[in-house]
Amino acid sequence: MRLAMLFTVLTPENKMIFESATKRGITLERVFDSELMMELTASKKEYDGVLQRSSSYARTLYSSFYLEQMGTFVCNPYKAHKLCGDKFLASVLLGKAGVPTPKTFGAFTPDAAKAAAKKLGFPVVMKPVFGSWARLVHKLNDDEALDAELESREEMGHAFQKVYYLQEHINKPGRDMRVFVIGDECVGAIYRTSTEKSGWITNTGRGGTASNCPVTSEIRELALKAANVFGEGIYGVDMMETGDGRLVVHEVNHTTEFRNSVEPTGADIPGKMVEYFVKRSKK
Ligand SMILES: Nc1ncnc2c1ncn2[C@@H]1O[C@H](COP(=O)(O)OP(=O)(O)O)[C@@H](O)[C@H]1O
Ligand SMILES: [Mg+2]
Repeated sequence: MRLAMLFTVLTPENKMIFESATKRGITLERVFDSELMMELTASKKEYDGVLQRSSSYARTLYSSFYLEQMGTFVCNPYKAHKLCGDKFLASVLLGKAGVPTPKTFGAFTPDAAKAAAKKLGFPVVMKPVFGSWARLVHKLNDDEALDAELESREEMGHAFQKVYYLQEHINKPGRDMRVFVIGDECVGAIYRTSTEKSGWITNTGRGGTASNCPVTSEIRELALKAANVFGEGIYGVDMMETGDGRLVVHEVNHTTEFRNSVEPTGADIPGKMVEYFVKRSKK
């Protein structure tokens, strides 16, 4: 069996995955997405399985699609990246599946976006439909802030930044949760607590700190239900605690970071990822 990991840079996560493979006697070839040169019009299967770890959403989508069409098992599959990586599509599917998620509107014009904000009530959270590390995720407290955001996007944004995604603000207790799902297993979870520097944003890439979050049956069931919406795979399910004691899922990450999560959870996340990937590649 020929297996590879496709990635952009050797991040701490990717290093851990390679080490876990080596420890298990598994050869995982290193493929940098920058070196891919794909003959799109010729059918050629090189790998039985590819673990998709590209840092770029565009590269993830195109390479996953290409490899799958060539007959390679790609983990996560193209469909998962396509649907999770686009917050608009993901919210539609989470809502439809009955997964508790913050109330969210989509709109294509400033006027329609303002009407949506009126329905939600301030503060509203606006996010780009594609993105990570909370880049351009903004909490808007009033009409003036919303107008400024909309004008900036209209004048400077590309077409997808003019797809407006507005969400109710959840008054969470200064933290959210990242729950790791691998196949049908929930392997661990962390609390991500915001610091003064990160404010209401909890991403660890933005200064949030990671600590162990005990996986209750409620957390497990919700994480598995949310992951299941996008098909079997490896996910980081982000959820928040609401003021009235409920849990809501706000994002399902399709290429999840976990560098800060192995230590607090005590879970061998990269090892379990490798084992799952190899098992599925054989199927
Ligand atoms: N509706 C919301 N209410 C309160 N906080 C939110 C809301 N949505 C996101 N956040 C905070 O913003 C951070 C980034 O949001 P997220 O949707 O996960 O975007 P990204 O894909 O950029 O990580 C989350 O970790 C969370 O702490
Ligand atoms: Mg997130």
